Amino acid sequence: MNSLRHLLSAAAIGTLLLSCCGMPSETDRRVERLLGQMTLAEKVGQMAQLTIEPFILADGEGGFTLDTALLREAVVDYGVGSLLNVPLSESQPAEVWGSFIAELQRIATDETRMGIPLIYGVDQVHGGTYSLGSTLFPQQIALAATWNPAHARRMGEITAYEMRACNIPWNFAPILDLGADPRFPRQYEGFGEDPYLGSVLGRELVKGQEGDANDVDHPEHVATCLKHFLGYSVPASGKDRTPANIPWSTLLEYHLPAFRAALDAGARSVMVNSGIIDNCPVHASHRILTGLLRDELGFDGVVVTDYEDLEKLHARDRLAATSKEAIRLGINAGIDMAMIPIDYRGFCRDLRELAEEGAVPMSRIDEAVRRILKLKFELGLFERPNTRPADYPLYGCDEHRQASYAAAAEAITLLKNDGALLPLDPAAGKRILVCGPNAESRRALCGGWTVTWQGHGIERHPELCKTLAEAIGERFGARNVEVIPGVSYQAHESRYDTEHRDRFDEAAAAARRADVVVLCLGENSYCEKPGDLNDLALDPLQTELAERVIAAGKPVVLVLSEGRPRLISKFSAKIPAIVQSYLPGPQGADAVADVLAGAVNPSGKLPYTYPAFPNSLSVYYHKYADEQRNTDATYKYEGDYNPEFVFGHGLSYTTFAYSGAKLTHEGDEIVIAVDVANTGDRAGREVVQLYSRDLYASLIPDVKRLRRFEKIALQPGETRTVEFHLTTDDLAFYDLENRRIAEPGDFLFEIGSSSSDIRATLNYNLQK
Ligand code: BGC
Repeated sequence: MNSLRHLLSAAAIGTLLLSCCGMPSETDRRVERLLGQMTLAEKVGQMAQLTIEPFILADGEGGFTLDTALLREAVVDYGVGSLLNVPLSESQPAEVWGSFIAELQRIATDETRMGIPLIYGVDQVHGGTYSLGSTLFPQQIALAATWNPAHARRMGEITAYEMRACNIPWNFAPILDLGADPRFPRQYEGFGEDPYLGSVLGRELVKGQEGDANDVDHPEHVATCLKHFLGYSVPASGKDRTPANIPWSTLLEYHLPAFRAALDAGARSVMVNSGIIDNCPVHASHRILTGLLRDELGFDGVVVTDYEDLEKLHARDRLAATSKEAIRLGINAGIDMAMIPIDYRGFCRDLRELAEEGAVPMSRIDEAVRRILKLKFELGLFERPNTRPADYPLYGCDEHRQASYAAAAEAITLLKNDGALLPLDPAAGKRILVCGPNAESRRALCGGWTVTWQGHGIERHPELCKTLAEAIGERFGARNVEVIPGVSYQAHESRYDTEHRDRFDEAAAAARRADVVVLCLGENSYCEKPGDLNDLALDPLQTELAERVIAAGKPVVLVLSEGRPRLISKFSAKIPAIVQSYLPGPQGADAVADVLAGAVNPSGKLPYTYPAFPNSLSVYYHKYADEQRNTDATYKYEGDYNPEFVFGHGLSYTTFAYSGAKLTHEGDEIVIAVDVANTGDRAGREVVQLYSRDLYASLIPDVKRLRRFEKIALQPGETRTVEFHLTTDDLAFYDLENRRIAEPGDFLFEIGSSSSDIRATLNYNLQK
């Protein structure tokens, strides 16, 4: 099977050869033949995507049947070409997926005039979100914390395989939104705050799913959908789908790189940002959707809206006085497919009329349908509309689960370890209190998009995920471990009542009995709008629990499981050891327990800045050096960057020494090398990070920018040379005219173990 997956399919080779010769490929010819026979109504139907829920008849016992009469109206009468989402809003076994999509495909291919297969899309954003028994991975933010592209590649491969096992060919992933605002409720869905880290991992997640040759007709590959193009993640309020102000050069400099890398990697489709930038909803932005994406970046795949977002141009944004006008704005801006997702009759009627009236040019409709048909051909759906679960014996297998564990284990980030409190020796027989609301929560480990949209569904499947309390109990011996959550998410999050005081008393008493406390705090699962926050600080009940447990006077290990960095500065100074697990997924509890016990030497690094204060939320690539001070000594400035933990930070149980850094350059090429040695007595992994500082520039330069990184494994006493290859283009930035320029002048390269733990510096002068 493995040798198969790397073979180029005949269709892919054909397309490659023909497009190299500048001739239309066989696929292009098939698309044109089909397009030439289609009516306007059929074309408009192809541009419509519906959610599956209205077509589902629940049987009341967890099963369902399809409402075929309603479906026929949509697929046969209106020619609807795409569906999304999961029946009953809850993950389904592969066999169920396989058979109901096969039935949809039968209706589309046998009962419609043109026989065009449907394209079904699902959000399988960290493995099989909606596929029961599939492999669930850590969320992307944890994947980013591994700083190891191999994990992104492997997650992509396994996700694609298991999606095809479920007869699903199209994934609404990866998420490439820049995680530059910790308040944003979708922080965890992306790769964190750095454009370069996001580019490297995004590329791997695309290649993992689409294959090295992007031969998406391969039975183990799927088409990816990059989202949410562009500038979704930094609304001014920090809340989902609220207005953002982003200068164009900022969009290009920070938000675009990960998308550009993933497009260069061949990603087949793009989903549009639901938000508003500079007063223009992105769904109506011709400048972003056509000027940038098509004309500048040359993307020719499918652009799909986000959920109900054409209608929002009317109902939410008041940009269009009618739904019809909203459709006109969006389609003319460059949208190919509308995730309607319910009122398709109105959409189809309005778009038909718009085309007939000439308000949407026929050429625009043809262009959109051409791209959609092409994707369906490329996915092999015409030849083979279905894949069958029985052909995928590795679905949810142990090897896949191991890959999820390996990613989780490499993600766990040791943020603090005063007095080498960790690791705790299981043989020492210490009494451990495991407390906090995450001690017995599965949701808190897996996050949203797990079994159900908001992630609560995982609690109905204890067999899929161990809790932290269970895993720690197994690792350290159940008789040594007492579990008292102290607070639960079921309780109203900010109500102090007698019940809570009693539970705090109980937890504090248990802490006094224990030798060490493992305090499991963070967030309950959420996603999108329901995850909006008014206060980034950790929930007050958890904060109070922390204070009470700390007051018991025993050493405390704080284990965080959270989608975004909730502020802990009220009590963090009193805690000697802090472990960030992010949202490590169903294997995360074992990974955390193994880190606590020293069976795994932690090697995760923060993919974002962990802020300390609500009014200091800057990213590491802020302006001005940290040591910058007002020249007038009477006004003392805080540094501009004063976080709890800096970007790229993460400790190990061993130590690494850097030496012999050197830089050579020739023409445009720059080569930087450094020797890294494991100077401790345990094997460990280090993420060697290379930053550049532009000392003077015609626009205020960022204080530093990550340019390269490499994660290496070293045995005790072992030394390795790490070599980074750059070109002067890596030092370029967007100027006020939105041109990318590399300005001559002095640069400083910094090599470090984090963005502030710099171990070597090298000067470089970029000549004219
Ligand atoms: C989300 C998208 C998702 C879509 C389909 C939207 O609400 O913003 O990320 O792909 O729903 O489920």
